[in-house]
Parts: sequence; structure tokens; C-alpha cells
Amino acid sequence: MDRPRPADAAELDPGRTLLDPRRYAAEGYPDALFKRLRDEAPVCRVDDPRIPYWAITRHRDIVEICRDPERFSNLPQFQINIEAPFGGGDAREPETIIQMDPPKHRRFRELVSHRFTPRALLPIEAALDPLADEVIDELEAEGSRGECDFVERLATPFPMAVIAWLLEVPRRDWPVLFDWTNGVVAPSEPEYQRAGETPHETRLRSSKALYDYFSDLARERERGDGDDLVTLLAKARVDGEKLPPHILASYYMLLIVAGNETTRNAISGGLHAFLDHPGHWDQLAADPGLAKEAGEECLRWTTPVVQMARSATRDTELHGQKIRKGDLLACFYASANRDERVFADPFSFRFDRRPNPHLAFGIGEHFCVGAHLARIELRAMLRRLTARFERFEAAGTPERLRSSTTGGFKRLPVRYAFKRRH
Ligand code: HEM
Repeated sequence: MDRPRPADAAELDPGRTLLDPRRYAAEGYPDALFKRLRDEAPVCRVDDPRIPYWAITRHRDIVEICRDPERFSNLPQFQINIEAPFGGGDAREPETIIQMDPPKHRRFRELVSHRFTPRALLPIEAALDPLADEVIDELEAEGSRGECDFVERLATPFPMAVIAWLLEVPRRDWPVLFDWTNGVVAPSEPEYQRAGETPHETRLRSSKALYDYFSDLARERERGDGDDLVTLLAKARVDGEKLPPHILASYYMLLIVAGNETTRNAISGGLHAFLDHPGHWDQLAADPGLAKEAGEECLRWTTPVVQMARSATRDTELHGQKIRKGDLLACFYASANRDERVFADPFSFRFDRRPNPHLAFGIGEHFCVGAHLARIELRAMLRRLTARFERFEAAGTPERLRSSTTGGFKRLPVRYAFKRRH
């Protein structure tokens, strides 16, 4: 049996880089450090004075933790953000389903989960290729070749259009919703902060703005007979009661934030992988039937959610390490998806992983509600990009998000050429 030697956190993570947003902006994911941790200290105590926690880096351990919500709770913190801590009893914090444990969690999750099954999404699936084409058409209208920021022009508008459609939010509001979702997921990013704001204040201001926006929308929709998600939740009942206003607004906020940011990062991170692997682009262009495998590999490769946290509900043990009741555990999905114990050749980008048991959507009780939607969006985008563009090339240095919770690109400058239409 493989027994890791006792963890020496100071040696393994001397600069506390695992959760430093600046590090993610400068260099991307700390893959070499993750690998050392997986090999030498898969359950590693990190005594960060701001938030002490256990770093969990192996796939199998994360699966065990996330499948056991009785032993590992999503409260009080579902994610660790060193610069802008979540929870902590701040009444201004939203309460989303990610911040709930069973049995409450199930009752609230079921309100929307039936809308995100493959069957329920069939009509949307049929509309995704044309919707992706609309976004691409806007760029083509400016000429058949040129340079652009891939994030801004292609990766952002598409998932925004899809989630806005499901929620039926008016198009004129998309830019401001987009700004607020940025402030929620990357509050350490100076670009998303107002002068003098701390990251914590940026996140609270942005979530409050989303909260107010959707509270107003819910009041309007409650009286109507629409079939959109805003109306569905505004009229929903749990144990015969309407949703408390803060849970209702938090739900909308979660859907718009989760629906936008992660999918955007999977699309732009996927494109970045293709810039480095042009042969794969050609392979997909020649065989669009590979979009499913390509999409799964983009998800594994990019892992847009770096980590989610759990807290021990009682004293317990993992890999010989004594975890105390109340201890916080950071489950690094970004590390699990490179775990050589599960993925052959994990640092290679390849379409022949069958199965591809990545944890980009988490696993267990809180498995992503929108996973199927995100998958079909990603496939549609990959199909349409490879059908319509000859190729993309890097046209400058990409800029990464300053966040250790949501990983991805803020800007991805590319040069593009459309295929000739016959
Ligand atoms: C590539 C895109 C996406 C990725 C990588 C992603 C990833 C995740 C992850 C890792 C979790 C949390 C799992 C945990 O707590 O351990 C999650 C939860 C969630 N996601 Fe996604 N997501 C994506 C797209 C979406 C979309 C499109 C929607 C909906 C419109 C969505 C809605 C949700 C919701 C509602 C939850 C909370 C589930 C719960 O707590 O039960 N996500 N997602």
C-alpha cells in the first residue's frame, strides 16, 4: 500500500502558492507543485495564517470526500478564497445551493435540476449550432481574416446568450450582468475592482448588484405565466413555502455566474490548447464526430474550477492524516485531472481517453447541475469553430485571470482566417 511520508507543508508550499491568485495570473496552474503533493503528501496541511486548510490533490481522495457529504460538509465555506473569504456568517453573503448540505440541499437542487437533463435540453441542443454561428457571424461581418481577443468576441458571448435565453434576461442587460459575474468570480482582479475596493468588497458589491437585479425580475415574473427559469423559481415552493428572498436571488446569481464564467473558460482554454496542438484542430475539423471526446478533453485540460472546499463534520482520517472536526479541505480538481494514477500520460492533450473520468464538474452531491448544458455548448462551439475557421494563431501574450478559484484567460489575442464559403 502506498503510504505517503508525513507532509511538510513549509517545504512543499513555501510561498503558499497553491491559493495565491497572483501566481495563477502569472503562471497558470501550479502543476509541478500539484504533482509533488500528489506523490509525496496527497493530504497536506497548509498552515496559512489567513485560512489554514488541508490540500487534497489526488483524484481518488477527492471522489471519496465529495461523495460523503455527511462527513464532509459544504459549510461554512464551499471554496477557499484567501483574499476574499466566503461565508464566515456575513449576512450580506448569498446563500446558494452550493452552500447547503443534505437533506436541505436536495430539496432546493430539485427545483431546477429537471430542466438540465439531456432530455429536457433537447430543444436547446438543436438551437446551439445556429446560436454559435450567430456569434461567429458577427466577427465575420468585419472581414474574413483579422485579429481579435478570442475571449471577448467568441468565448464570452456564446454562453452568455445561452444562459440569458434560459433565464430570459433582456439583451441590453448582458454587459452589466457580465461585469457583475466577473466581480463575483475574480474579485482580486484589479480590472474588476472599483477604486479603493478590497477584493472582498468587490465580490460583495457584485453579488449584491446581481441580487437586486434578479429580485426585481422575480417580482415581475411571478405574476406572469412564462416558462423561463426566473419564473420557475419565482413560483417554486419548498415544503409548501415560497423561497425566502435571499435564497431565490442567490439561486439566480449562481445560475448566471456558473453558467457564464466556467463555460467561457472551458471554451477559451480549449482554444488555447488547440493553438499548442494544431494537429488536433485538423483532426476535429476532418471529423466533427469527435466533438464529444474533444470537449471532454478540453474540460479535463482546462479544469475551469480550480478547487472546491469541504469541512470535516467530525474527527476523521485520510491517508493516515488526522483531520479534526471543523478542519477545512481544499479539493483541487485541477490537480485530480492530472493525476497519473487515473489518467495515462496526463500532461498530453488527447482525444482517445475513453473513459475520461475528469472532475471538472465535481462529483457526488454537488455535481454540476449544468454539466450537460456546458458539454453540449462546448461541443457546438468546437464544431462550428472548426467548420468555419481555417485556423487560429496566437497574436500576443494571453492574460490569465487573477483567481485561485476560477481558472482561465482574461484575454486571448488570436489571428484568424475564415474558410472560404462554397
Ligand atoms: C464548463 C462549464 C462548467 C464547469 C467546469 C462547472 C463546474 C462546476 C463545479 C466544479 C461545481 C461544484 C461542484 C462542487 O461543489 O464540488 C458546479 C456546481 C454547479 N454548477 Fe457548474 N460548471 C459549469 C457550467 C455550468 C452551467 C452552464 C450551469 C448552469 C446554467 C452550472 C450550474 C451549476 C450549479 C447550479 C451548481 C451547484 C450544484 C450543487 O451545489 O448542487 N454550471 N459546477
